[in-house]
Amino acid sequence: CAYMGAATGSLTVPVLQVWARISAISNERQAIIKSTLDRLLEEDYDIRLRPQYGADPLSVGMSIQVASIDSVSEVNMDYTLTLNFQQSWRDERLAFDGLNLNLTLDNRVVDKIWVPDTYFVNDKKSYIHTVTRSNKMLRIEEDGTIFYGLRVTTDLACMMNLRRYPMDEQNCTLEIESYGYTTDDIRFHMLGDIGVTGVENLKLAQFKVTNSRLLIKNITFATGSYPRVSLSFLLKRNIGFFILQTYLPCSLITILSWVSFWINHEATAARVALGITTVLTVTTISTNVRQSLPKIPDIKALDVYLICCFVFVFLALLEYAMVNYIFFTKQPYKYLFVVYNKQAEESAKSANFAAQFSGGSKETIRYCDEESTSPGSIHQIAAGWSDNEKISYVYLSCSVYYLLQGRARGMHNAANGKRRGQPSRNSVGKKRKGYASRAKKSLSALKVPKISDVSIIDKVARVAFPASFAIFNFVYWTYYIF
Ligand SMILES: *[C@@H]1O[C@H](CO)[C@@H](O)[C@H](O)[C@H]1NC(C)=O
Ligand SMILES: *[C@@H]1O[C@H](CO)[C@@H](O)[C@H](O)[C@H]1NC(C)=O
Ligand SMILES: *[C@@H]1O[C@H](CO)[C@@H](O)[C@H](O)[C@H]1NC(C)=O
Repeated sequence: CAYMGAATGSLTVPVLQVWARISAISNERQAIIKSTLDRLLEEDYDIRLRPQYGADPLSVGMSIQVASIDSVSEVNMDYTLTLNFQQSWRDERLAFDGLNLNLTLDNRVVDKIWVPDTYFVNDKKSYIHTVTRSNKMLRIEEDGTIFYGLRVTTDLACMMNLRRYPMDEQNCTLEIESYGYTTDDIRFHMLGDIGVTGVENLKLAQFKVTNSRLLIKNITFATGSYPRVSLSFLLKRNIGFFILQTYLPCSLITILSWVSFWINHEATAARVALGITTVLTVTTISTNVRQSLPKIPDIKALDVYLICCFVFVFLALLEYAMVNYIFFTKQPYKYLFVVYNKQAEESAKSANFAAQFSGGSKETIRYCDEESTSPGSIHQIAAGWSDNEKISYVYLSCSVYYLLQGRARGMHNAANGKRRGQPSRNSVGKKRKGYASRAKKSLSALKVPKISDVSIIDKVARVAFPASFAIFNFVYWTYYIF
């Protein structure tokens, strides 16, 4: 053990000596650095005065590294930007020599030296990140050049013009200005060739950064002219989301509303239900869209489309109202009623309207029964009466007939109010001649519609609606895209 100690001892002595020397040097160096710092920051340094006070304006260099843009909000008209913001200027009072190093210091020293009072003009709320320590950096070079860096997240106001929404492009800016020093005291310039980095790597959910521009200018207020750096981004909205979410459903609903034109105009329930459903669906889509937008009076491109879809489905519903109205108020039925009602007085007892007509041998009634008749099929109903062996026929379709039946009954009852009681067979027989001549007159004026008849309005609508929607789409997309 003693031997070992002697052997190592003889080796240790020079090592220790070297170590002691090194540590003496480093202690000495630290002492020099400390005294330099003390001298720089405490003796004679007046934090209240900017560098070159009273002389030329101080030139402050800037460099911006954009880390991310997130949450562009149309409702609040702002966007959130995270950036590394560096400023550099020369403070001759902090120049030192003999150290051959750059002094990199932490954020506590920032409070002890003069720093420019730059602020973000359009900032609403911002903060400097503090994890793990306040994200500030300070470096002093030998000639007194200072680099001061911050990592900031800021909500910046961005006045958006939403008239072309969602095919819009927003110009959002970051405005950096000196709060108190005018152009007589401070000038801004960019560090390096570009000054701004990281813009090309920006990824946003709803936007694409298509361009960015940097501008240094002077802004004049009542208190003087202030230097300003203005960095602007051109954000182009991706329309894909809106195509899937709004445009496509909206057009499909509009197309769906045209199905009504191919449905029989007597299928009131089907056509009205289809019309109302499509109107309500378009209303729901537009309500959803509005929720994510500010309540501005401007008409947005999306509004134009939604309103037009709404107008189209609404007109499709109105079209049916018109078809229905015209169908039920067609003149011929009145004549028909006259013909039928007279005969019906006799046959009214029968639930089936096509009861036997009294008298004439030639009268035939081929009546379609309600069960077996599918709507739209054509049946003949021959309601005839004999008058000098002449036979008149009225050809009707079943469904028209039912319709008339309803009407005939209603009017028949009204007629009964005047002429109480049912006329006897004889009286009918006597009057038959008169009826027949009247019936003939009526028949000549009568044009009986067939069930296969499609309302002319429907026919027109089948072409007019798709055509006008196609034209609208063409005009709309041409206008907004080019
Ligand atoms: C201090 O930093 C500057 C620029 O960052 C560099 O050019 C210079 O060489 C550095 N000085 C020393 C002594 O390392
Ligand atoms: C944004 O608007 C400002 C002011 O109107 C303009 O100077 C700047 O060039 C625009 N930015 C872009 C990227 O076009
Ligand atoms: C701003 O004002 C200063 C001093 O008045 C002038 O030297 C400088 O050229 C101006 N800068 C711009 C961009 O107009």
